[in-house]
Amino acid sequence: MSSTAPIGVFDSGLGGLSVARQIRHDLPHERILYYGDSANAPYGTRPPGEVRAMALSIARRLVDQGAKALVVACNTATSVAITNLRDVFDIPIIGMEPALKVACDRGHGSSQKVIVAATPLTLKERKFAALMQRFAKSNMILRQPCPDLVRIVEDRQLDDHAIVMDALHRYFDSYDLDTVDSVVLGCTHFVFFRESLREMLPRTTAIIDGNAGTAHHLSVVLESLGLLAPETQKGGVRINNSDPSPEIAQLSQELLNRPWRSESGHAGTRE
Ligand code: DGL
Repeated sequence: MSSTAPIGVFDSGLGGLSVARQIRHDLPHERILYYGDSANAPYGTRPPGEVRAMALSIARRLVDQGAKALVVACNTATSVAITNLRDVFDIPIIGMEPALKVACDRGHGSSQKVIVAATPLTLKERKFAALMQRFAKSNMILRQPCPDLVRIVEDRQLDDHAIVMDALHRYFDSYDLDTVDSVVLGCTHFVFFRESLREMLPRTTAIIDGNAGTAHHLSVVLESLGLLAPETQKGGVRINNSDPSPEIAQLSQELLNRPWRSESGHAGTRE
């Protein structure tokens, strides 16, 4: 496998573009082949077997296009398919899971109250139960499924402030937010709601996502295998989607190029 080969990144739809954006920022020499399955989104309300089959078929497509590694930029697909993907394909496969460890480590030993926002399927799966078990003994972990947030992104309503805030209030108003230490964004679509969520949460509540950690993990794995792209290579992102409409193509570009700022002070801007 050549280090100049592309990295395949996929998601149920447009959420994984928040991960592609992070990888492009952190590893600017990499060529990224992105595949969004918007025609079949959302995955998070489907039976696990269907999501597994879709993930396997997208991975096959990216491997056939010459990917040197795969990033499953979808917590839901990772929950149900990561083991099968690693059984079938002989290249590095990086998955994503809600960044519960990062949230709990913020307590430096004292108990944390954490809301994990994710899809219904991620929260139901065994993989998440195992993660919960590691942290729930010494922390309070609250699970909040937010399926409508995926729809809002896919239906091009992300810039409709009233719709966004209405959905966020529906999901979060029942909590005593002043007592919540952090909200974990356990779905890559939700990363696009960071600023709206910030409007609603107390300043003391952190918002945590796994994108920077995933890009870092990818770079460590590629480096260890001698597969990091040479610095002479011009990186970039090529986007494909199972929904061929021009609206999806346009929204994909817009989301990929949306400037963002994470709470660790890391800033990402338009290239
Ligand atoms: N973006 C996905 C995730 O990280 C899944 C969203 C969905 O299709 O339900 O979980």
